[in-house]
Amino acid sequence: MSDFILTTALKNAVFALIRDCGALIRSAHDIERARGAITDKAGAANYVTVYDVKVQEKLIAGLTELFPGAQFLAEEKENAPGLLENGLCFIIDPIDGTTNFIHEMHCSAISVGLYDRKEPVFGAVYDPYLDEMFWAVRGEGAFLNDRPLGVADRPLEKALVSFGSSPYNRREFGDGFFKQLYRVFLATADIRRGGSAALDLCFVAAGRTDAFFEQVLSPWDYAAGYLILREAGGVITDLRGQPLKIGEKSSVLAANAVLHKEMLSLLGD
Ligand code: IPD
Ligand code: CA
Repeated sequence: MSDFILTTALKNAVFALIRDCGALIRSAHDIERARGAITDKAGAANYVTVYDVKVQEKLIAGLTELFPGAQFLAEEKENAPGLLENGLCFIIDPIDGTTNFIHEMHCSAISVGLYDRKEPVFGAVYDPYLDEMFWAVRGEGAFLNDRPLGVADRPLEKALVSFGSSPYNRREFGDGFFKQLYRVFLATADIRRGGSAALDLCFVAAGRTDAFFEQVLSPWDYAAGYLILREAGGVITDLRGQPLKIGEKSSVLAANAVLHKEMLSLLGD
């Protein structure tokens, strides 16, 4: 068990750094028209912008000063194997919801998870447009800015369920996924697709939605939300009900504690 303790001073310094990066995200306009601002990545409709790179660089530089010796597993860089094995490692998504960001949809977030030898110790997901900082420290609960968070307890027929469409892997998963989604749609109050998995996890933690699922997520999509959701009383596994393998790609099912089992059987039918 990790004996790492995050002091209030360090935690506040991390929040200040993330908020500064949020200002960079808010300053961006007409990204599609700026020459060279967007580059294609592997998979369908998968992009990186100059802002993703700038935010990531600023986060890594700032966190290195605050936590000398920490490792970084981050979306827009090469990640050597074994980064999570020794000591502290930040898992970072500089802009989760890059497609929304490019379209100026204002539903994107900065996601920063801190792990101590694969154990989550701190997570923050920041929506720069609403100034909403979702965060959690292991064993101390989850918060939205200063307000404690807790999952909802709505039953299935009243549940609002969000999903990710795994757009980069659509040929592999699209068919089965839309069958699952139809079953969920019939059984619940309604469905939602926001475009940022990190925020989707926090919305379940905040009781705004009741469950979230996606066929494929990368470690940086779920690393911070994983702890926030659990500290808010939610349950998070892969779509077979197995624990997530932190640091690996995975399917994800997150739900309020009442719904998790029911969602598993609904999705598996
Ligand atoms: C994506 C978003 C999206 C989810 C994708 C993710 P990105 O992250 O979280 O909601 O459906 O699976 O990859 O590429 O915008 O950082
Ligand atoms: Ca992401």
